Formats: sequence, structure tokens, C-alpha cells
Amino acid sequence: MTLNAGFTAGLESKLQQLRDDRVYKRLNHLASPQAARVQMEGRGEVLILSSNNYLGLSAEQAVIDAGIEALRRFGAGTGSVRFICGTFTIHRDLEQAIARFVGTEASMSYVSAWNANEGLTATVVEEGDFVCSDALNHASIIDSIRLAKSITKCQTAVYKHADLDDLRAKLSGARGAKRRIIWSDGVFSMEGSIAPLPDLLQIARDNDAVLAIDDSHATGVLGRTGRGTAEHFGVLGEVDVITSTLGKALGGAAGGFVAGSAALCDYLTQRSRPQLFSNALPPTVAGSSLAAIELVEQHPERVATLRDNARYFREQIIEAGFKPLAGETPIIPIIAGETAAAIQLSEMLLDEGVFVTGFGFPVVPQGEARVRCQISAAHTRADLDEAVAAFVRVGRRLKLV
Ligand SMILES: Cc1ncc(COP(=O)(O)O)c(C=O)c1O
Repeated sequence: MTLNAGFTAGLESKLQQLRDDRVYKRLNHLASPQAARVQMEGRGEVLILSSNNYLGLSAEQAVIDAGIEALRRFGAGTGSVRFICGTFTIHRDLEQAIARFVGTEASMSYVSAWNANEGLTATVVEEGDFVCSDALNHASIIDSIRLAKSITKCQTAVYKHADLDDLRAKLSGARGAKRRIIWSDGVFSMEGSIAPLPDLLQIARDNDAVLAIDDSHATGVLGRTGRGTAEHFGVLGEVDVITSTLGKALGGAAGGFVAGSAALCDYLTQRSRPQLFSNALPPTVAGSSLAAIELVEQHPERVATLRDNARYFREQIIEAGFKPLAGETPIIPIIAGETAAAIQLSEMLLDEGVFVTGFGFPVVPQGEARVRCQISAAHTRADLDEAVAAFVRVGRRLKLV
């Protein structure tokens, strides 16, 4: 049998185009767990400011041990989907813990937040519904709406980022729709900004709409005890649907969830295609995620450390002459201008031993390419000072400060 040479040649030419356009992504290989500092192959120890390991839990001993214990107790997995082969008690325990943590009646786990978002939208949206999505929503929300639209022929619209008037206008144009669904990130990952949740809730009530929030960058991060955007604004229990990841602050492994009413989660069990046709989260991940949630519940001071670290880094980087986007989350983007400038900044920082990823067009608007600093509770003040010093050295060479 011969391989299809034309297919491979076509891909190679597309890859070359990415290199020519200077948007080709090079993978950096790590030989140690995610922590404030990692061992990067070919570079040795580097300080990492580009991980979603916000609470430093991915290398936490209790989280690792719980994963190992779950692997021993339940094995590698069920070997099939949950309704066919049985569902592990650890999944039920995890889902109860998630619901308790984010303040909903129930939750349903998925192998990723991407899967959870697709599972949610494509299952609950029906013909005649209207889905309205923030312009800066995560790709998984966008694709989930595209999927729902292609299945149901529902109506969709995108409202300008965090523009409440535009959202109201779009909803009022959809009064005849069977149901209205508003979809927003809780924290926008490229901006580090927080969705105006109380306003979104009010607009949802005024328009008899369902509000769905993706809290992937807010769970374990926002609110006094890390319960997310709803806790941050004092509206725990008021959001119809919260989706989030277990792959960032809550242990960093993988997995995601949809949290909401018991009826919603039961319906997802009955009808959501990733539940019906794909294996569940591996028990090891369920075990470590459960331990991560319990740890955050018992140690809310971790969330306070994260908040303090983010505030400290923001103050120091501003004092050093940089102008990060304003905000109060641990995502601190520093605008470099054109894509090439952001990539150069990121590469020079890596040469200085600081790993921060550069993002350019089309991920962010043209001319607003940036490096995105992400702060963790695992960083010490010395780590943050070292990072700022590296920014200053590189910033001076590039005449940014
Ligand atoms: C807002 C948001 N939603 C969903 C995801 C996907 O998360 P997961 O890695 O669990 O699929 C991400 C990850 O980048 C995200 O930032």
C-alpha cells in the first residue's frame, strides 16, 4: 500500500506558509511538572509565566497522590461510555464536589471543557432558538454554536465584546425566537478581563434568556474562595449554566464540566453526544480533580496568594514602564504591537530564562499582538521580581521602556 503523497505534500506546503508568515508554533518540551520553574529541554531551568496552573496544584503532592490512588482503585477506565459500562463512584463524587464548589444543583463532567461546551450547546439548543455570543468568546464556544446551528438551524448572532447595548439590541431583534441563550466567557483569556456578569444576568432576566458562562479562567481564580465569576460579583447560584475546565486551576490535568440544574445535567446524560458516544474522564483525572477542589475548599488562602501575586506583578511591571491591559485577574497581557514584535519579545524573554508566549493576529486584533503573562500562586516574590527584571532588560533593548 502506498501513502497518499499529494496529501502530505499539500500539508507540507501549508506548514511552509506558516513558517514564511512567521506564525508557525514551535513546541517547547518540558521535562518536569508544571510549577513556577520548569526544566525545558535544551534550555535548562526557566521561569514560567504562561501556564494556567493558577493555584500551582498540578504538582501538588495531595493532587498527585489522589490521582494515583484512583488509578489503583478504579484502573485505567471503564472501556466504554458511562451508560453502557457503568459509571465510577469517583465521577459521581467529583460531580457533586463541582456542583457544591460552583454553587449549582448538579454538574456533569466531560473529558475537556471544549467537549463540555460542545456537549452543552449542541444538545440543548433547538430549532427556533436564538443564541447570542460575545465576540471574544473562546473558540470552543464558537465551534459549539456552529455545530448547534448546523444541526438545528437555530438563529445566532455575535454581540460586540462586552457591549451591553449591542447585546440588548440583538436580543430585542429576536423576540420571536422560541428561546434565547446568551453565551459569554467569565474571564476573557486573551484580555484578562471579566465579563460584566450582573448586567448579563439582568439582561437575561429582562429578555427571558438563559445565561451560560464559561468560567475556565475563573474557576479557582476569581472570588474570595475561588468559586469563579459568580462569587466575584456576589451572585453565586444565579447563573443558569456554568461550564469550566479541570485543566487549569483545578489540578491542570484535563477534563471539564457543565454545571446547572439537576434537570440540565440529567438531560445531558440522556442526550449529549459526547456522553453517549465517548468514554468518561479517566479515573486518575477524576481523582486528582476531586482532590484539587477539596484542597481549594480547605485552603482559600491559596486563592488570596494568587490574587496578591497578580496584583504585585501588575504593579511592578507598570512601575517598570510597561503598559499592560488594565484588569484584576492573573492574566496580564502586555501589548507589543505587530505579531513579529510579540514573538521577538517572547523569544528574547526565553533567552533570559522567562517563558511567556506571544500571541498575534488572528488570535488577537491586528496591531495588538501581545505577550500574555499568567501569574500563579506558586510564584514567589523573588520569581516575580526576576521576571520583571528580565522584562526590563529585554524591553530596553527593544525600546519598549
Ligand atoms: C475559556 C476557555 N474555554 C474552554 C477551554 C478549553 O479547555 P479544555 O482544555 O478543558 O478543553 C479553554 C482553554 O484554553 C478556555 O480558555
